Amino acid sequence: MKKVQFTETVLRDANQSLMATRMKYDDFADILPTMDKAGYYSVECWGGATFDSCLRYLGEDPWERLRKIRKAMPNTRLQMLLRGQNLLGYKHYHDDVVEKFVELSIKNGIDVIRIFDALNDFRNIKTALEATKKYATPRTVASGCISYTQSPVHTVKKYVEMCKELKKMGFDTICFKDMAGTMSPSEAESLIKGVKDAIGDMPLILHTHCTTGMAYMTLTKAIEGGIDVIDTATSCFSNGTSQAATESLYYALSQYGIETGLDEKVINKVNDFFKPVKQKYIDAGTINPKSMGTDAQALVYKVPGGMLSNMIANLKDMNAMDKFDEALVEIPNVRKDLGYPPLVTPLSQMVGNQAVVNVLMGERYKQISNEIKNYFKGDYGIAPGEVSKELQDKILGEGNKPVDCRIEDSKRTGEEFRKAKADLGDLCESEEDMMSYICYPDQAKKYLTDRKAKRENVAKYTIVEA
Ligand code: CO
Repeated sequence: MKKVQFTETVLRDANQSLMATRMKYDDFADILPTMDKAGYYSVECWGGATFDSCLRYLGEDPWERLRKIRKAMPNTRLQMLLRGQNLLGYKHYHDDVVEKFVELSIKNGIDVIRIFDALNDFRNIKTALEATKKYATPRTVASGCISYTQSPVHTVKKYVEMCKELKKMGFDTICFKDMAGTMSPSEAESLIKGVKDAIGDMPLILHTHCTTGMAYMTLTKAIEGGIDVIDTATSCFSNGTSQAATESLYYALSQYGIETGLDEKVINKVNDFFKPVKQKYIDAGTINPKSMGTDAQALVYKVPGGMLSNMIANLKDMNAMDKFDEALVEIPNVRKDLGYPPLVTPLSQMVGNQAVVNVLMGERYKQISNEIKNYFKGDYGIAPGEVSKELQDKILGEGNKPVDCRIEDSKRTGEEFRKAKADLGDLCESEEDMMSYICYPDQAKKYLTDRKAKRENVAKYTIVEA
């Protein structure tokens, strides 16, 4: 029988897409033992923005959150999203830091590590893969992830080559990450078929968003094409900028006799649990009703919704909304000059801002942002396509080539570990504390300082009581 498995995203991507990752651990703790019986392929619960949000807004230790989820769900694969050499941010870390982060993620309970690079420069995911293999348990899965986008250089042939490369590198599964939800049913059909033919029985996963309204059609075509795992969210946390609904797809697939491994009663219970949680966050204004609707603009302009609203806000700030149409036309031109990077954070903002500047200045690249300069210097990795030679010469000086970021990243000096320990002093009680600080220094220091103060208060209180 044909089988399609589900990754439930309510704890990570649905939470991140609909409510900026503000869901507290205590709000979902009670449902975890039930979720453990649902029969998911995996539960995505960590990485992405969860780490930053725990430290910055929720006063939670992200590592402790992970350990608690692990304890409550011993039978389910726990999954995280990792931005390769950038870990959970946008800066490149040295190899020793990347390796330690992966080691601790596995040690604290992660089974599936989905590793991607915004530019699909696979040199930037190699260290994370090797570390995953080095510290793997029998349950560990290293998933190689491709950022999906449309451009003249992003052909099915190109994606097939990427998949072959990921297979050769030693990944266990391959995932397509359609972060803007712009993959169409027709694109899914040719892509999945082409890739399946090339990689054989290696499990293939599709991650998409409902943002533009195409996700269900796209997933249907992907399922027909032989996709093995799909990402979905429990229905009350589905749709809009989130994933397609778990129960709806379960229902549809069951009628076709496709095995999902899911327990219908359990997935309904999960949804019943999250309904009041969602209502609470709607009432508090944490969930923006706009994020729950469909916005097909991304299909018209070929830019993700978030990028568009960012651009509109910028133009309004500068009282220049009359330049909106011109700026929209300029976006594809800037993207072409950059060699067609996928429009994912931070590239989407960089391209959008430069397009606005080009239009407002009345002359292209009269002013160039530092981020764009760094991109041409090679800080982000290799561009997917040819960059504009003229712009490259303007930024780097004639005839100069970008630097190889891997030479700098591959260092293993222990420097970042020493600095973290020195800066934290006795606030640092574990390698996990040290790693939180390396990833988010200000937020981690504040969290660890608060933790210490809280403990001292408790200690004082206990003495008085005694
Ligand atoms: Co996503």
